[in-house]
Amino acid sequence: MEIKTPKLASSRENCMKQDFSITGEKGIKNTSTPLNSTLSREWFGEWFDSPYYHILYKNRNFEEASAFVNKLAKHLQLNSSHSILDLACGKGRHAIHLNQMGLDVIGIDLSSENIKAANAFSNPRLKFFQHDMRQAFRTEYFDYILNMFTSFGYFEKEEENQKAISVAAEGLKKEGKLIIDFLNPDFVRDQMIEKEKKVIEGITFHITKEIDLDNFILKTIKFNDRGQNFRFQEKVKAISQDKFISYFEKAGLKLEALFGDYQLGPFNPNSSERMIFIAKKP
Ligand SMILES: C[S@@+](CC[C@H](N)C(=O)[O-])C[C@H]1O[C@@H](n2cnc3c(N)ncnc32)[C@H](O)[C@@H]1O
Repeated sequence: MEIKTPKLASSRENCMKQDFSITGEKGIKNTSTPLNSTLSREWFGEWFDSPYYHILYKNRNFEEASAFVNKLAKHLQLNSSHSILDLACGKGRHAIHLNQMGLDVIGIDLSSENIKAANAFSNPRLKFFQHDMRQAFRTEYFDYILNMFTSFGYFEKEEENQKAISVAAEGLKKEGKLIIDFLNPDFVRDQMIEKEKKVIEGITFHITKEIDLDNFILKTIKFNDRGQNFRFQEKVKAISQDKFISYFEKAGLKLEALFGDYQLGPFNPNSSERMIFIAKKP
């Protein structure tokens, strides 16, 4: 079957039409303002809704997602009878490819902008909804739930992480599987580049990284676009392998496999970039 590659890249033309600065003003005059005092909503509600996220991560494209989905599809022996949830689907790059392979797919994401973009590809067997993964979605409905490319670890409270995994477990049919593609925190810690500069689509992103006392990986992104200053911060909890296993167990899931990269190679705590969990509902 010939699979067409959808154009998922965000248009820079729309960037300036909306206000994505962290202060809620157009451009940040004073970046020393404490972040928490100015955030009107959780950081992940702001940053992933912004077109700048899609510019900075433009190499995380449809082709990369398709290659990984193909590997997973082979490993999981996916077929057109299976129903899939892409949990925190973004603009739907994994969901669209799975649907093009003939599967029934639903994608959910918190970002209204992402869901709007993904909906351009919807069809009777591919639907997208704006939804928070901490809220119940469907019960015993999906054969597989995929949570791809570090779409976890954003919440402040342990209970919220557990809730999101438990909600996913509820959404699985008996013998269904949850796949979580997360960073390997030990690798991130060892390989951390504290300061870097990236020029993409004419924007110079100044990026700094650190790990805070609560074990969150903080990535601060500053840039100027057409005379306006912006500052965003990603905040991802360095969740360990054991902690994930404990979330799974409390949600009634059992770890079936753990891979260390997008080729589904074995996980090595020191050298693997990813932790790709497959957890099964009995
Ligand atoms: C790193 S992006 C990855 C998106 C997509 N999985 C991909 O690989 O392109 C993380 C996504 O998680 C979504 N997200 C963050 N918090 C969420 C929540 N509480 N419920 C649902 N989606 C959420 C964001 O809007 C964003 O699209």
